[in-house]
Amino acid sequence: MRLRDRNIFITGAGSGIGRAAALLAAKEGAAIACAEIDESTLKETVGLVEDAGGRVLALPCNVTDRDAVKESVDHAARELGGLHALLNIAGTGKLAHTADVSEEDWNRTLGVNLNGTFWVCQAALPHLLEQRRSAIANVASIAGLNGQAYSAAYCASKWGVVGLTKALAVEYVKRGLRVNCVCPAGVKTPLIGQMLPPADADPDLMARFGLVMKFTHPEEVAESLVFLISDAARSINGVALPLDFGNSAS
Ligand SMILES: NC(=O)c1ccc[n+]([C@@H]2O[C@H](COP(=O)([O-])OP(=O)(O)OC[C@H]3O[C@@H](n4cnc5c(N)ncnc54)[C@H](O)[C@@H]3O)[C@@H](O)[C@H]2O)c1
Repeated sequence: MRLRDRNIFITGAGSGIGRAAALLAAKEGAAIACAEIDESTLKETVGLVEDAGGRVLALPCNVTDRDAVKESVDHAARELGGLHALLNIAGTGKLAHTADVSEEDWNRTLGVNLNGTFWVCQAALPHLLEQRRSAIANVASIAGLNGQAYSAAYCASKWGVVGLTKALAVEYVKRGLRVNCVCPAGVKTPLIGQMLPPADADPDLMARFGLVMKFTHPEEVAESLVFLISDAARSINGVALPLDFGNSAS
């Protein structure tokens, strides 16, 4: 059990990668706090973890609300007896021609993906730093390492997550906290179904999504997240790990 006796705060736990991570972390022995804006999917995830024998706390929470985030994180730390790791997974996205991106869409994408990740990191920091060793793993995207057409807001938010990850990794390296992120390409989750290209998208520009058109599964991303917060990754800090079958290598 790679996460025995570890308490882990997980955002976006109601669906896709977040749910897979919650199930895997619990299976690996962690007690988990699941934070999620959608109360019905949160309830489902909590039920699945409990059915599998895991210890889990349900926290309805909007990661864009700084005060609510702090309240949820502090509550989780109190209930579980401290926090050892954080998985920032909540995210959103929408593809559009840059000229058509509304202020609302821009703010929502940056608000959830970047501001939300930051608020949760900031709230969790004092708890994580109480431990001798602790870890954060953020979910960025391959869109946080490359430029992608029709993805201005999403790319900007995910490049921000990569930058935030590296900044914290450097700042807290001497205090036992490691901070890394994963950068998946296409993952089979509800989100990918929402991120449809505009009807008149240029197919040459869309080909940029990958040389190998292969999707990964949420459980595979969860494996990388659990690895990054486990002791097996004790020398890994500040990396943005592409999960893209090597597409970004070329
Ligand atoms: N699916 C992909 O192809 C892909 C690729 C690269 C990166 N990602 C990233 O992976 C992460 C997880 O996405 P997924 O693919 O599992 O999608 P998903 O839609 O299945 O899960 C996202 C979860 O985040 C929750 N969420 C959204 N806004 C929130 C908020 N304000 N507060 C709290 N929770 C909120 C949603 O309710 C949902 O449960 C995201 O950060 C996404 O950008 C996904």
